[in-house]
Amino acid sequence: MIETITYADGAVRLLDQTRLPTEVVVHDCRTAAELAEAIRTMRVRGAPALGIAAAYALALGAREYPGEDPAAFRAHLERVAAEVRATRPTAVNLFWAVARALAVADAALPQGVAAAREALLQLAHRLREEDVAINRQMGAHGAALVPDGARVLTHCNAGALATGGYGTALGVIRGAVEAGKRLHVYVDETRPFLQGARLTAWELHADGIPLTLITDNMAGYFMAQGKVDLVIVGADRIAANGDVANKIGTYSLAVLAQAHGIPFYVAAPLSTVDLGLPDGAAIPIEERAPTEVTHLAGQRIAPEGIAVANPAFDVTPARYVTAIITERGILRPPYEAALRTALATADDSGVERPASEEPPASGARAR
Ligand code: MRU
Repeated sequence: MIETITYADGAVRLLDQTRLPTEVVVHDCRTAAELAEAIRTMRVRGAPALGIAAAYALALGAREYPGEDPAAFRAHLERVAAEVRATRPTAVNLFWAVARALAVADAALPQGVAAAREALLQLAHRLREEDVAINRQMGAHGAALVPDGARVLTHCNAGALATGGYGTALGVIRGAVEAGKRLHVYVDETRPFLQGARLTAWELHADGIPLTLITDNMAGYFMAQGKVDLVIVGADRIAANGDVANKIGTYSLAVLAQAHGIPFYVAAPLSTVDLGLPDGAAIPIEERAPTEVTHLAGQRIAPEGIAVANPAFDVTPARYVTAIITERGILRPPYEAALRTALATADDSGVERPASEEPPASGARAR
């Protein structure tokens, strides 16, 4: 199994996603600041993986506080939480994990600072393990939507590398393959960061799942040719009405899929749902460095001195989404009721769910 995030000898070990596929390098983080930097620079990325990394960052931060004073420890933890929240604004899993970590620390603090430190580390381990189990559940549910022989198009990387393991959208693909179905996957390269070409192609190829890599602007061509049976993507944040924020380019795919009568599925754990936002308009959209667009592998490909935009995500309105695959099953429109029921079931089952936090001030807003 691909080890996206592990913990050994006091270090959080990341499979460095800026180096794949040409180099398989492990990047060690020993401090919260190092891990926050790894999140910002996308050595670790993908919504569920960001949640796990955020929990580990709080565990590392807790270790950095040298004293035993509960109030000072708590203040220190709040500063670490603020640093982690400021890394990337769109994936709600990161904010969810920070809130969950603070709640766990508060529950353990009456037993002392050492107990809170240990509880935070155990939480991070648990989130990672739970995530793999959740992805397998999604894979099993979602496999039912994938016919034998299907040609599936995916965008970005919603695989093992974006999660604790197995993946969300790629988890559904893996689930279908494990169920004995023969699939062919069209992989969008996913400009500008190339998560599709670099990461998804690497993962699927390693698993022996047949794939064809295409550039993003080829998707409509292949749909028009009748060569795509369904689209499946992950999500960074799902608003209460079912609007989905995901990697830039997802919206165009959803519109194309509808125009061609092709089902468009979103696979995401319930930790990606933000009931605090009524619709996608309020989802904060990260704007990344222009150099990701003007440069390719360190080489300038556009003139200097021009305006460049680099929104990292877009919002797909719920009306384009055929179904949302979660660990609690397949949700169909109207999504608000379906999401609330799924989350209530999750709460009944004892899964902690801290209140969603206000989106950070940084980052552009979806229109
Ligand atoms: O900018 P990234 O690479 O973190 O964006 C990742 C995506 O958009 C994924 O599709 C999403 O996080 C789901 S990952 C299971």
